[in-house]
Amino acid sequence: MKQLHVELGDRSYPIYIGPSVMSNTELLQQHIRGQQVMVVTNETIAPLYLQQVTQALAGKTVAHVILPDGEKFKTLSTLNLVFDALLEKRFNRTVTLVALGGGVVGDMTGFAAACYQRGVDFVQIPTTLLSQVDSSVGGKTGVNHAMGKNMIGAFYQPQSVLIDTNTLRSLPDREFAAGMAEVIKYGLIADVAFFDWLEANADALMARDEAALQYAIAQSCQTKADVVAQDERESGIRAILNLGHTFGHAIETATNYTSYLHGEAVAVGMLMAMDLSQRMGAVSEQDCKRTRDLIVSCGLPSLSPKGMSQETYMSLMAVDKKVLDGSLRLVLLKRLGEAYVGNDFPPAALEATLGSFCHE
Ligand code: NAD
Ligand code: GLY
Repeated sequence: MKQLHVELGDRSYPIYIGPSVMSNTELLQQHIRGQQVMVVTNETIAPLYLQQVTQALAGKTVAHVILPDGEKFKTLSTLNLVFDALLEKRFNRTVTLVALGGGVVGDMTGFAAACYQRGVDFVQIPTTLLSQVDSSVGGKTGVNHAMGKNMIGAFYQPQSVLIDTNTLRSLPDREFAAGMAEVIKYGLIADVAFFDWLEANADALMARDEAALQYAIAQSCQTKADVVAQDERESGIRAILNLGHTFGHAIETATNYTSYLHGEAVAVGMLMAMDLSQRMGAVSEQDCKRTRDLIVSCGLPSLSPKGMSQETYMSLMAVDKKVLDGSLRLVLLKRLGEAYVGNDFPPAALEATLGSFCHE
């Protein structure tokens, strides 16, 4: 098992990575301060893992709430199901919520914990690769609003993160690949040695080799923890974690969240950000090719949606959270393994990038 640490003063917490960590009573209970525990999960994950987690909580007063599965249920009204369950059980401010699931369950449970009786403890047990390397670490919690994704939320850190690599055995291939996009992201933004390692070990990862998985998850979480420790509330550097996301969100919105998973849209978006960085002379054609090859070898798409126009990209990117005083800012690379957020790209270079990706 590997152990990492997110250094945030009195909000610091450990991350444990390994097989069966969710069934380890000592590890799980170590960060649960009170007697009451509410496990929040969904209808897909409950039959797979709820029993193991409940058993590991032996000795506590444990209840659970099973939410419907899907991004479309990441709403305030679904969140009410968690509050209903907590109040029905008369759970008080000493309760700990346990998020057992992917990023949707994790984001909602964290936000429920931030709100219930003005804030109670929560523990993350992420079960998708994406949630293990990204959403469970760093304290971004929230739900969607009809007018925007993740628009209602809070920064609220967990007490601990237990990453059980066994859960990846039941994850569908497409969801696993989507998580790989975020893993590749860490190599591109902060760690060229890790990028090299990913190229050499992509096959082992895609075969879900345990040692390769633990290494890739630990490297990813370490980079995320380092960035979050520097800028918890995203007033600066944390935005580099969004490499490819501005293009990617435009793709997700244009395709109505139906044809690309988030990680798939981010994969295409990262290639677009690389292309723009190449036009600015920051990375080489070879760097772009290596990234495309790695993305494709992980079963991820590399093409913009058919028929999505430059105008659609521009209008959707104009509402990105990183737009500041009307100016579009993008995460770009200074070189392979180093990212920054800036608006220093020539508009003609962005047009050329969009032009080269848009196709009928
Ligand atoms: P998800 O939570 O919807 O999970 C994907 C699917 O896999 C679901 O159907 C889920 O039930 C199923 N599943 C989960 N674990 C499984 C397992 N072990 N075996 C079989 N099936 C399993 O999607 P996700 O990709 O984990 O998370 C996406 C969400 O994360 C989005 O809402 C996004 O906004 C959020 N997110 C948050 C942050 C953050 O910093 N908080 C970062 C990135 C993404
Ligand atoms: N997923 C980006 C962040 O946590 O900041």
